[in-house]
Amino acid sequence: MASVRVSLDVNGTTYEREVEPRLLLVHLLRDQLGLTGTHVGCDTSNCGACTVHLDGAAVKSCTVLAVQADGSKVTTIEGLGSPEDLHPVQEAFWDNHGLQCGYCTPGMIMAAADLLARNPDPSEAQVREALAGNLCRCTGYHNIVKAVLAAAKAPARGDAAPPPPPGDPTVPVTGVGA
Ligand code: FES
Ligand code: FES
Repeated sequence: MASVRVSLDVNGTTYEREVEPRLLLVHLLRDQLGLTGTHVGCDTSNCGACTVHLDGAAVKSCTVLAVQADGSKVTTIEGLGSPEDLHPVQEAFWDNHGLQCGYCTPGMIMAAADLLARNPDPSEAQVREALAGNLCRCTGYHNIVKAVLAAAKAPARGDAAPPPPPGDPTVPVTGVGA
């Protein structure tokens, strides 16, 4: 099968690859770019484990051909945040124990981040509806929803107050005896 040259921006890096026209985006990401945080749970568009952002919108990358992503900007879980600077949704999943085995987690987080980008203050029903295409085989839905609602309440990235300077007299003293 003749290959096709594609060029796409993934997590801020431009990649050019020769791909078969039938290659799925998820397999390009995992097998050729080594971005294995994007999971494959079904390959039939049912589970959402493969969710990434394509030009800013959440998509199931097992439903997109790599050639369809040519010229696009893709964000995977590896590009959403970093260990030193977690995305608020990642932080909220951590804080609220929004995972068990973790297999669905990257897709859940990418879907939730997309929801909060479109609707920063969703109701519980809206969170559940937005995640309806993402399945958790551990059935940890309660804490996943809790985490997304907590992320919605978290300060936006870059909005967090800077740490006070040492000795700042406006900071109340706390601790034993305070
Ligand atoms: S692997 Fe894409 S939806 Fe399940
Ligand atoms: S945490 Fe195991 S599949 Fe969701």
